[in-house]
Amino acid sequence: MNIIENFVVGSGKKFLSSLNEREGAPLDAMQKGIQDNDIKNTKMLYIHIPFCRSLCPFCSFNRYLFNKKSAEEYFKRLRKELDMYIGLGYNFDTIYIGGGTPTIDFDELNMLLEYLNDRLKIKSISVESTARELNEEKLVKLKSLKVKRLSIGAQTLDKKLSRDIGRGWQDYDSTIETIKLANDIIDTLSVDLIFNFNTQTLEQFEKDLDTLINIKTKQITNYPLLPSIYSENFKNINRENEKRFYNLLLDKMESASYKPSTVWCFSKKNDMLSDEYIIEYDSYIGIGSSGISLLKNHFYINSFSVAKYNALIDNGKIPVVREKFLSQSELADYFLLNHLFGLRISKETFKNEFGASIYKVLYKELLTAKLLNIIKEDNKNIYLNKKGYYMVGSGMRAFLSILNTLREELRSKQI
Ligand SMILES: C[S@@+](CC[C@H](N)C(=O)[O-])C[C@H]1O[C@@H](n2cnc3c(N)ncnc32)[C@H](O)[C@@H]1O
Ligand code: SF4
Repeated sequence: MNIIENFVVGSGKKFLSSLNEREGAPLDAMQKGIQDNDIKNTKMLYIHIPFCRSLCPFCSFNRYLFNKKSAEEYFKRLRKELDMYIGLGYNFDTIYIGGGTPTIDFDELNMLLEYLNDRLKIKSISVESTARELNEEKLVKLKSLKVKRLSIGAQTLDKKLSRDIGRGWQDYDSTIETIKLANDIIDTLSVDLIFNFNTQTLEQFEKDLDTLINIKTKQITNYPLLPSIYSENFKNINRENEKRFYNLLLDKMESASYKPSTVWCFSKKNDMLSDEYIIEYDSYIGIGSSGISLLKNHFYINSFSVAKYNALIDNGKIPVVREKFLSQSELADYFLLNHLFGLRISKETFKNEFGASIYKVLYKELLTAKLLNIIKEDNKNIYLNKKGYYMVGSGMRAFLSILNTLREELRSKQI
């Protein structure tokens, strides 16, 4: 483990053991200490849709097999939860709808998008999907409802590897056709790939990248395999291989003139949205089963059980099941990791957020980064050097693996 990964795993384990249990929260309790200005400045809303047509064994997100009736019941509660926040004065303008597979019940998604557009002045909506849940008509509809970014999860385009990872249902030809269509219709079309599966070869990954580059995919987002930190898989992550995959990725992206927007996300143009909304938004609300909120200095996570989520909403409660107060130093570390992952830290943004210079609050961390030669700076910003991409990426992999650990625990116990 490198120094950043080591640090993240250490603080992540402390974080996991210090979460407080809750069984729903009355609205006013969740808003304690929140000022009107905090509400006004919270512009980002995450919405979770936990349904898929089949369940991939490697995936730790909260997801259940799709059933039309329970999806309809669930979307009803989502609108109610949204109303609770709007009633408090939240005025979100940036929405990220993740899953699961948000497009799985397209009529319900449509209604939700209309509901959002009717109530909020929206700048952009991002939606996750898979190729098999999309077609031209759906893509045009999504665009008309302010979906500016769509990510299509492919993970791999290789037939054998798709079978190895439990996605044998993914058909190569129709996946490529859908990606091409979406690429023409949606402003920022991104395709998700995963690297470092046990049986994956560098050649398979290279071929996937070549295919996506050849069809001029606007954006490619590449995740290292994220196991939960307590699983055998985590101890056994083959970091040497991971680094080989990552170096190959950097070479390929550079030679095809893709620009990094994060350490893992590469775009053909500079002004494209990326997947990591947490980089730009230091406060956000997450609604739906397993939604995560970061509200000022409070972390909240909603129930993973759809039945419990529905029941808590019916009782007029915010469906949180775990919470934690975050200290200034925890928040500053979180800020540092996220913004380095997004390749740039604005000194002014840090100062506005923490009321002090970044050099004062994160002196030791920045000194270490300088000694490692992974950052450079000018008057306004601190930038991550290419030399630091892999290192910060493995810190982010560890951070997301910690979240996956929490997700797996809460989902398996139906909390
Ligand atoms: C929550 S999924 C939704 C996408 C869609 N349901 C699909 O099947 O592609 C969003 C993305 O997370 C990534 N992902 C899921 N599980 C992962 C894991 N264990 N490690 C790395 N990335 C993962 C995949 O790239 C996936 O496309
Ligand atoms: S990768 Fe996508 S389709 Fe597969 S289980 Fe996860 S959310 Fe569902």
